[in-house]
Amino acid sequence: MKKSRKIFVDVIDKAVEAANSMHPDELLFSYKGTFYPTTLCSPESFKALETFEARSDDVILAGYPKSGTNWLSQILTDLIAISQKKTPGRESSVNAEDVQEFPYLEVGDAEKYERMMKLPSPRFMVTHLRPENLPKSIFKNKVKILLLTRNPKDLATSFLPFFQWPGFFSFPGTWDDFFTDFMTKKMAWGCYFEYLSEWNKYADQENIMTITYEEEKENPALAVKNIATFFGIPLTEEQLQLVVERCSFQSMKKNSEKTHGTFGNIIFRKGGVSDWKNLFIEDLQDHNQKMDKAFEEHIAGTKLGKKLKYDLYCKA
Ligand code: A3P
Repeated sequence: MKKSRKIFVDVIDKAVEAANSMHPDELLFSYKGTFYPTTLCSPESFKALETFEARSDDVILAGYPKSGTNWLSQILTDLIAISQKKTPGRESSVNAEDVQEFPYLEVGDAEKYERMMKLPSPRFMVTHLRPENLPKSIFKNKVKILLLTRNPKDLATSFLPFFQWPGFFSFPGTWDDFFTDFMTKKMAWGCYFEYLSEWNKYADQENIMTITYEEEKENPALAVKNIATFFGIPLTEEQLQLVVERCSFQSMKKNSEKTHGTFGNIIFRKGGVSDWKNLFIEDLQDHNQKMDKAFEEHIAGTKLGKKLKYDLYCKA
């Protein structure tokens, strides 16, 4: 296993081990009004993150959990490797053997940000945080951010088994219970609708490119091409095809034992669009009506809301 992936798998394994010795009620903690996983984040790290000095050539992927962040991470990792004249999969990728840190910015100990100062450029980071909780230097230094969103019905459907997984949250409830929590902010990394409306305030900035999970599924080659253009990475047709192939759901799922350890099974689940139709039902809870209303109230008329094509992907 490559050193960089070993670090990823080790962090997950440690979190799973810690979760096993904790009561389910302890697995989330609240920081400034938002819940986070106790085994991955801490108030000390959030405090230290505030003064993290971003570089203008950092590469950031922002996306709420279950929006496809592992997928886009692989794409960006491969594109960065290409920009460094390496062949993805054949030679060491981003920052070669120097990658010392778990790629999710808010995951890790409070000293992580000091260590990151020593990493060579370009540093690649992923984050589930809302923009107001990110270090100010990211926006001050105009770091390029790829902002990933996903239709809220598929996102909630994908989140349920992840939340039930004993490794992180051990959620003991049913889909109905989960749905209620999803709609009332009792979620790790906060409410998705608030996440969307906060990020929408930044969606017009020139250093931010927005992309949806669904558009990536519709035309992966075009999406990869656009991402490469945004980050100023020239690509040959052959390189483009290589990235698309390596980042397909089938290929990532096949490699997941190596790249993600046991966590792979819970991440690479179905990899499709419209799985929500198997869960959302018009019973007493009326999931569709509640989510349609929340979408309308929070985000429908905005740039990010329109980009999600809610009528196409979320109406039966
Ligand atoms: P499903 O649970 O609907 O299958 P994240 O990485 O942010 O946790 O998101 C996980 C979701 O992205 C899962 O959705 C997973 O299957 C999907 N995903 C991961 N890699 C993918 C790929 N290469 N192509 C399509 N979907 C992918």
